[in-house]
Amino acid sequence: MANFIPQELIDRIRDANDVVDVISEYLPLKKRGKNWVGLCPFHPEKKPSFSVSQDKQLFYCFGCGQGGNVVTFLMLHEKVGFFEAITILAKRAGISLPKKSIEKGRLEEVDKIHYANKLANQYFVSSLKEKNLGKKTREYLEKRKVLPESIKLFSIGYAPKSWEGLLNYAKRKGLDLKTLEKAGLVVKKEKKEGYYDRFRDRLTFPIFNLSGKIIGFGGRDLSGKDEPKYLNSPETLIYQKGKILYGLNFSKEIIRGQKKAVVVEGYMDLISLYQAGLKNVVASSGTSFTSHQARLLSRYSDETYLFFDSDSAGMSAALRSVDYLFDAGLEVWIVTLPQEEDPDSYVKKFGVKKVLEKLKEAKSFIDFKKDFLNKDFSQLSIKEQEKIIFEFVETAKNIKDEIRQALFIKKVAEAFKIKEELLLGRAKRTRKEKETEEKVPHLKGKELLEQKLLKIFLEREDLLGLAYEKINPFCFDNPNHKKLFEIIVELWEKKKSFSPKVLVDFTDDFELKRLISKIVTIDLGPANLEVLLEDYLKRLFFIQKEKEIFRLKEEIKNALDGNDFESAKRLTFKLQELIKS
Ligand code: GTP
Ligand code: MN
Repeated sequence: MANFIPQELIDRIRDANDVVDVISEYLPLKKRGKNWVGLCPFHPEKKPSFSVSQDKQLFYCFGCGQGGNVVTFLMLHEKVGFFEAITILAKRAGISLPKKSIEKGRLEEVDKIHYANKLANQYFVSSLKEKNLGKKTREYLEKRKVLPESIKLFSIGYAPKSWEGLLNYAKRKGLDLKTLEKAGLVVKKEKKEGYYDRFRDRLTFPIFNLSGKIIGFGGRDLSGKDEPKYLNSPETLIYQKGKILYGLNFSKEIIRGQKKAVVVEGYMDLISLYQAGLKNVVASSGTSFTSHQARLLSRYSDETYLFFDSDSAGMSAALRSVDYLFDAGLEVWIVTLPQEEDPDSYVKKFGVKKVLEKLKEAKSFIDFKKDFLNKDFSQLSIKEQEKIIFEFVETAKNIKDEIRQALFIKKVAEAFKIKEELLLGRAKRTRKEKETEEKVPHLKGKELLEQKLLKIFLEREDLLGLAYEKINPFCFDNPNHKKLFEIIVELWEKKKSFSPKVLVDFTDDFELKRLISKIVTIDLGPANLEVLLEDYLKRLFFIQKEKEIFRLKEEIKNALDGNDFESAKRLTFKLQELIKS
């Protein structure tokens, strides 16, 4: 957040812009009960599930889960950062901002790192255009059939062969070196004072976040000699490799429309497919999928087509990615290419029509893996067959949703002609957490209980004072609930105040922003909040106790199994004390 605007001013600007008024400028809202409703601008829908609370100054969509305050709305809708959103709102309300130039070291760290990346990109893009300096790179791009429109859209550039090119450029623009370093754009010299450019003599692909801001770079070696082939920005405050998918900012709307996403490995693969008209594509940038990336993708699509190199590295990458994809609820298809081809070379040789045919022929993950592991399953020894089936069971185990898991197992059972129940048993038996969930009563309702508790605090700040001494963050099992509670307490301790709209700005985490908006919409009914709080706390403590009892029983069992009677006795005593209490 831009800390050169004092917090009081930010509050004043936000309060001067009624959330219903502002949103109404973008979409029609209708009054329904206490709230206003409309068609969500963040996902396609026919019936309105987008709700705005004038009371709380928050919006929330029951369809896609987007939510936040008036600032969040602008950030999401206008695809701008916090500072820009505040600037727009200030203008709208006729409030003037302190006049300071942006580049003069006053922006908050995050904004400064964004700015550094933006500057770097300006430098790379203009270097590529320069007559002599960018010549060989322009020729390289031409040779690889990257169209001018793609160079422009993807902001491809050239980092000149120089140790201090970007460094001097950024200095001239008034950016401090510390920020450049934090952005990963320059590297500190080992022996001497000073820094040097990280990207030298490389083709540059800026990496964008979902709102289209540049957060890092991939730099491709042009000489064919320099190692590594791709040099990427290191992880920074704004760039975490496992959390972004290259290209998703360009393709997300198309993916959302088709509900299908094609996943490739490389920047070049993505650009080639995109410019050939296949635009529902993202790139994993060579690493296997993280659960974060899988969930990100599942926000936009139902099905994924893994379209990787035909070499075995590509295929193993595909196989390693699928567990997370299934867990995120995505259907997984695998596209195979002839030897020595990758999506980039294939589409350039045979055209997009052939690629679409390939996608049509894609195999389901189960069939693919069955064939990949061995061409003729029936010829294998029983031990080998068993091993393959166990691998599927492992994948199934990683699917947390029970129904999804059962459906997956059903397919495996059909493919291998094995009784479903056998596989289901295997997938369940070893799942410790799930067992806990089944045996400890009420744990399923715990999630909602936690949210209702948080809702009470958001509704009546003073009630936190009552509960404050009795509960701690560890009472919350859901990590986001825990985080939210921690923030509430932090604000409470600092300011004795934490209205939801302030909370939303206090965190940069969009998942938390959404959670806050969601919790605000929970209806607690007409009951007295003090009474409800008492009741919820009681239930919370009861569940804590049940969990502790369950844990002790397990420990006793383990101690007995290991003939450790000493510990068993001690634990049994503890258990009885707990039950009595
Ligand atoms: P071209 O070789 O120019 O066609 O690029 P490509 O994008 O097809 O590259 P490739 O298929 O070899 O690799 C796929 C992706 O893996 C790349 O786009 C990079 O994101 C990543 N990658 C490849 N090589 C390296 C490397 O040496 N280091 C790092 N960090 N990433 C790499
Ligand atoms: Mn390639």
